Amino acid sequence: MHYFHYTGNRLCCEGVAVETLARKFGTPLYVYSQRTLEEHFKDLDQALAGVEHLVCFAVKSNSNLSVLRALAGLGSGFDIVSGGELQRVIAAGGDPRQCAFAGVGKTEGEIEYALRQGVYTFNAESEPELERINRVAARLKKQAPVAVRVNPDVEAHTHKKITTGTYENKFGVAFEEIEGVYARASKLRHLRLRGLQMHIGSQITEVAPFEEAVRKVLPLVTRLKERHGLEFLSIGGGLGIVYKPALASGPAAWWRSAAARDILTPQKYAARLVPLLKPLGLRILLEPGRFISGNAGILVTRVEYVKRTGRKNFLIVDAAMNDLIRPAFYEAYHEIVPVRRKAGAMVSSDVVGPICESGDFFCQDRPLPKAREGDYLALMSAGAYGFVMASSYNTRSLAAEVMVKGNRAALVRPRQPVEDIWSGEAAAPWLK
Ligand code: LLP
Repeated sequence: MHYFHYTGNRLCCEGVAVETLARKFGTPLYVYSQRTLEEHFKDLDQALAGVEHLVCFAVKSNSNLSVLRALAGLGSGFDIVSGGELQRVIAAGGDPRQCAFAGVGKTEGEIEYALRQGVYTFNAESEPELERINRVAARLKKQAPVAVRVNPDVEAHTHKKITTGTYENKFGVAFEEIEGVYARASKLRHLRLRGLQMHIGSQITEVAPFEEAVRKVLPLVTRLKERHGLEFLSIGGGLGIVYKPALASGPAAWWRSAAARDILTPQKYAARLVPLLKPLGLRILLEPGRFISGNAGILVTRVEYVKRTGRKNFLIVDAAMNDLIRPAFYEAYHEIVPVRRKAGAMVSSDVVGPICESGDFFCQDRPLPKAREGDYLALMSAGAYGFVMASSYNTRSLAAEVMVKGNRAALVRPRQPVEDIWSGEAAAPWLK
């Protein structure tokens, strides 16, 4: 669900016309709907009411300070993967004591910073990491709260680049080895074994893989709780969203669409998992990113040229793979809609950016309404893994970001001035 819809022929974000924002702030432009973000968070939070829990928003999916602040205001915790993300959460007014620090490569500096800030848990991914956390904690005369990430070896049925819970990838500790790891870690005096963590992948659109993974770890976590006094189990993130259709002719029509009927709702997710989790008597942590932010953002772009070749109709737009890399990197589908709807025939089109790579496209051979130079298009469902994965490849500025609430809009990140891209660079002294 989301609050992007047509009012008449104009695409609106909540009560604000997207075209007005594009004219005022320029393009490429990310636009976020605060109401969508907040409703997703509340929906999931309420669905889990039957068990003590903390929803930790995965900051990697969208780390804009306004997004983080809005969620912090609802009591969200945060799943972070770097010292930088922790600094952002704190800058946004989030509570470090509600942060779970994940990732396979935490540096000593990051561990020290997170320990001083008092994070809720370090989710460790290997024994050398546990030893390092113990060492840093000893130096600071502290006890570090830790969980170990178990790799449940469950197939998540999602894109290979975002599958994480099988033995084919670098994440976590193998299921068979995990109890030995806890036994050895329990001898490290500056560690406090606080929980167990898992995460099987991202954009998972059915509940079965989650259920399989939870069922598989239940006996394990019960034993670990008895032996080491664990307080929590994190079941990770990964709830998928609907990318297609992202936009029907209004929320009511959207809910009648086939994709909407199949969607993994928080209610379906909770109905299967809460009865399994509740008897554990542990606090349950979740780490959703995309579910909360994905449908809450769009990328608005302007058609610069319409170019016809012998076989193709290209719409060359001012956004590119540096602004939204998902289609190039994961063959991801993002629905593309006109910001101002017009009647007329559909034309099979390739929407491409200006970057000098043939992978720089947003769609190929897709029927789209006929567009002209100067028209604005919206790439839907771009709120997760959109701006956060942007780069300045081709010396292109990072896009601007706008947050909308009701009929108010605020520029929450101005477009990067082009000189800022090289402002930290210098000529080597021998070149002067
Ligand atoms: N927890 C852990 C340990 C993770 O590795 C991730 C995502 C999450 C939580 C949040 O997953 P989510 O709820 O957002 O699915 N850039 C890719 C997705 C990468 C996901 C990485 N890990 C994409 O654009 O599809």
